[in-house]
Amino acid sequence: MDLNVTVQPGSSGKVDGVTAPASLIQLPTLPYPENALAPTISAITVETHYQKHHRGYVEALNRMIAGTNFALMSLEGIIAATKHRRDGMFNNAAQAWNHTFYWRSLQPPQPTSAIPQQLDGPIQAFGGLARVKQELAAAATAQFGSGWAWLVLADSRLRVIATSNADTPLNTGVKPLLVIDVWEHAYYLDYRNRRADYVNAVLEHLLNWRFAAHNLAAV
Ligand code: FE2
Repeated sequence: MDLNVTVQPGSSGKVDGVTAPASLIQLPTLPYPENALAPTISAITVETHYQKHHRGYVEALNRMIAGTNFALMSLEGIIAATKHRRDGMFNNAAQAWNHTFYWRSLQPPQPTSAIPQQLDGPIQAFGGLARVKQELAAAATAQFGSGWAWLVLADSRLRVIATSNADTPLNTGVKPLLVIDVWEHAYYLDYRNRRADYVNAVLEHLLNWRFAAHNLAAV
């Protein structure tokens, strides 16, 4: 999907001291203020996660692709071209994409948590919303080490999967609908080692089901 992460080859500039086109892969703007997810996720966690980690992946990627043919590709194109290498360029590109998708998978707490109508059928076929949340929580907490828990569409049905480290379901034949970041940097400042508490709080208060419905409609 278009995550508004664009390639704009052209004028010269510097990325952390390395000469590079001024605008290679862009760090997308957060879709809400840094304090908008509190108290479930604090402003300092969002700031650190976005300004240090997400930005770090984008800047590292830009240093790697500067002056190469990859600088002419979209972020999705770089991921597709490097997915079999599983090297630093893939890791930084996939992490850049995964994080943009993560920020959009969350939203500030809403007064009502109505699920968009388009999701009713797929969720009922899965066994209901409680089961979706239960399996997302299980995938997120069972993921050994760093990774991601995803709600995806596979063969026209909802499915919950986990990926490790930088891996992404992009280009694997399934359609990502929502994701929860379970790298420690996503929750350690707020929840220390209590990953399950972070995951359950996100599931209850922050998941953006309208974003899931939007992704479903884009299939
Ligand atoms: Fe992260």
